[in-house]
Amino acid sequence: MKDGKFITLGIETSCDETAAAVVADGRDLLSNIISTQIDIHTAYGGVVPEIASRKHLEDINRCIQAALDEAKVSMDQVDLIGVTYGPGLIGALVIGVAAAKALTLATGKPLIGVNHMHGHISSNYLTYSKLEPPFLSLVVSGGHTNIVYVKDYNDYEVLGGTRDDAIGEAYDKVARVIGLGYPGGPKIDGAAREGDPDAIQFKRVYLEKGSYDFSFSGIKTQVLNYVNSETQAGREVNINDVAAGFQEACTEVITEKIIDAAKELKENRIVVAGGVAANSRLREMLAGKCDAMGIELFLPDKSLCTDNAAMIACAAHYEYKLGREDDLKLDAYANLDF
Ligand code: KG4
Ligand code: ZN
Repeated sequence: MKDGKFITLGIETSCDETAAAVVADGRDLLSNIISTQIDIHTAYGGVVPEIASRKHLEDINRCIQAALDEAKVSMDQVDLIGVTYGPGLIGALVIGVAAAKALTLATGKPLIGVNHMHGHISSNYLTYSKLEPPFLSLVVSGGHTNIVYVKDYNDYEVLGGTRDDAIGEAYDKVARVIGLGYPGGPKIDGAAREGDPDAIQFKRVYLEKGSYDFSFSGIKTQVLNYVNSETQAGREVNINDVAAGFQEACTEVITEKIIDAAKELKENRIVVAGGVAANSRLREMLAGKCDAMGIELFLPDKSLCTDNAAMIACAAHYEYKLGREDDLKLDAYANLDF
């Protein structure tokens, strides 16, 4: 499958998915292998870092081989190895970084450490073959909620972020409070479809006018207080209504803030990224508002919203083409800024 194309092998182990993928010329997805650990962590109600690391170690070689096999390329035909080096769980990250460095050491192929958040944004390049920076991006994941101006493939300006919980974190915590369990985002998304978004009004937190920052810890407390007071009063809590009310409040704030940012910065393209980009209500509300405002909306294919290695291979491709290269001193960083 090489045909003169530039082949990148991507590796991703930042949290609870062991993933490897092969991308040709930065945009052409040849394989995308994801070995999820969801079933294992469900028993604990969330990701257990030590278990995640051990599982990555067990799965990583098999995933890499499966990605090469499915893409019908040999390691010899790979031109570049890209690996997530942060942010994420440190014990999980080092497994991917060690695997990538071992491959570089054995083959002499160039190596690039990819910032996981740059990877998420890059999932859009795989979904929209003609999309190129600059554009305004909304990043909504388990660890991040950011409004970012993407000036180039390797140049990001963060305009705002969460002051407390990330949106995905809020989904996961609220899901636990209402007994939906892990992973919270998809479970709330599903429950909300059966609920009434107007039955319970949770307060929307917009912070100061003009701010591109977010705060989601308050709404989590509001849900907790609501559930406790209803339970104490002997009333049955309608979980679907709570899920729908919570989701509606968060989605409204996020949508309003990114649309305001686009208006103020005179940007007519919004590119969404991260696990919460899979949320059906967020996709629907953004689509409706962008349509009304004449803004072009880019949503990653649902299969590329949550963690995967295809987005890492894509980001690595562009960083390499713009002149960056790492060496065997590459390290993993739990906290890595945009
Ligand atoms: O981007 P991601 O896979 O990992 C991080 O980089 O954090 O995002 C995971 C987050 C989790 O909090 C998960 O609950 C959330 O994305 N998520 C969703 C949906 N699917 C995943 N949140 C809302 N609705 C969904 N359908
Ligand atoms: Zn992620």
